[in-house]
Amino acid sequence: MSSSSRDGFTSTFGVLVATLGSAVGLGNIWKFPYLTGTNGGASFLLVYIIATLLVGLPVMITEIMLGRASRANAITTFEKLAPKNQKAWKLVGYMGVAAAVLILSFYTEVAGWVFAYIFKALSGQLGSTDPAHTKAVFGELVANPQSALIWQWLVLGFTGAIVMCGVSKGIEVVSKKLMPVLFLLLIALCIRSLTLPGAMQGLEFLFTPDFSKINAAVILTAVGLAFFKLSIGMGTMLTYGSYFRAEQNIPLTATRVMFADLTVSLLAGMAIFPAVFAFGFEPAAGPSLVFITIPAVFHSMPGGSIFMALFFILTAIAATGAILSILEVPVAMLIERRNWSRKKATAISILTIALVGVPAALSQSLTASWKLFGMNAFDLFDYISSNILMPVGGILICLFAGWSYGLPKLKEALSNGGTLNNPALIKVLFILLRYVAPLLIVIILLNGFGLI
Ligand code: PFF
Repeated sequence: MSSSSRDGFTSTFGVLVATLGSAVGLGNIWKFPYLTGTNGGASFLLVYIIATLLVGLPVMITEIMLGRASRANAITTFEKLAPKNQKAWKLVGYMGVAAAVLILSFYTEVAGWVFAYIFKALSGQLGSTDPAHTKAVFGELVANPQSALIWQWLVLGFTGAIVMCGVSKGIEVVSKKLMPVLFLLLIALCIRSLTLPGAMQGLEFLFTPDFSKINAAVILTAVGLAFFKLSIGMGTMLTYGSYFRAEQNIPLTATRVMFADLTVSLLAGMAIFPAVFAFGFEPAAGPSLVFITIPAVFHSMPGGSIFMALFFILTAIAATGAILSILEVPVAMLIERRNWSRKKATAISILTIALVGVPAALSQSLTASWKLFGMNAFDLFDYISSNILMPVGGILICLFAGWSYGLPKLKEALSNGGTLNNPALIKVLFILLRYVAPLLIVIILLNGFGLI
């Protein structure tokens, strides 16, 4: 496919909302709030922000830049941009595609639960202030092999249909409609939560610094979160970068997305925890917070079932934008490397993900006893992709940009043909990419695994 006939984002706003749509996801609604709450509150937030600035943002800018410079999928980008004698770089692209399939195999499962919960909230099945009841409802959903699989397949079908429509007519159009709705719903939920009596305690939980909790494992968690949040280290931003317009200011767009994404995370925390504390619930961790505690919390407040449905609609919107971007990684690769039509590439991608996703979807039922390193398939896929493939992919992308691609090309690619000139900023970025970010990620990875 020639680059002139290649699909792409059509406006500055379109680029911004689609990229933000990728960053904003389940990571903001459950990962960020509970990790911040349980890892030291404001002090974790500080480590997370430092990790985002030193590692996350530089990698994000670089990925987008490499994608735009090559106007190709994750694998072909390295093939095109690496010197002739360094073809092995394309393995980074293969790793990205593998990570995308692995992430989607469990991410679409959680998204399936969210979609199911919209209907459960509306039909009144979650109508109880007793977490034992909401726990039973959740248990029934995940322990039933049929419902676990069907909801995952519905999500894959729904997002696959959008991706089949293309980048500008599918992903961009849907992102433009959904992202504003997401912000409105989030603000409405925040106002509801913060005006409840006793809301302050929730803010204290989220924002009181506890520096004694900061250790190597917590820092690894913060870096992992920075990668997961900004959708980096696995070719997603690279693929989206290949659809960026030539005149788009990449560092500025990435910085805006980073701040907007952080804002969504903070708003999500402020919508969830004040309500949790106001009604005397436990700020428990992980999926159980969203699927067990939250329904009981919402049922405790006047007009709760409406707010509960809105909460799950909001979460479904967030998950959708993220899934579209991850799905585009294998789809773009298959279209460009196999010469397949977008429809065929999408269909084969979602079928593969559905297949790989079976053990993850059934990890609370039929495959519950399948364990590797003490983890079931769901946890294992999450662990391998978030804690290994994404950070390692991040290191390799930094090393590629810093040592193989080099400063002159980096300057050229970021200056949009000389119209944007910020040599000092590019120098800082280059030093971060060449030395700081890879070294930091390696140390943190080794430390997190207890190797140093
Ligand atoms: N950034 C998304 C979230 O926070 O939920 C998750 C994600 C999207 C991870 C895209 C990786 C990715 F490539």
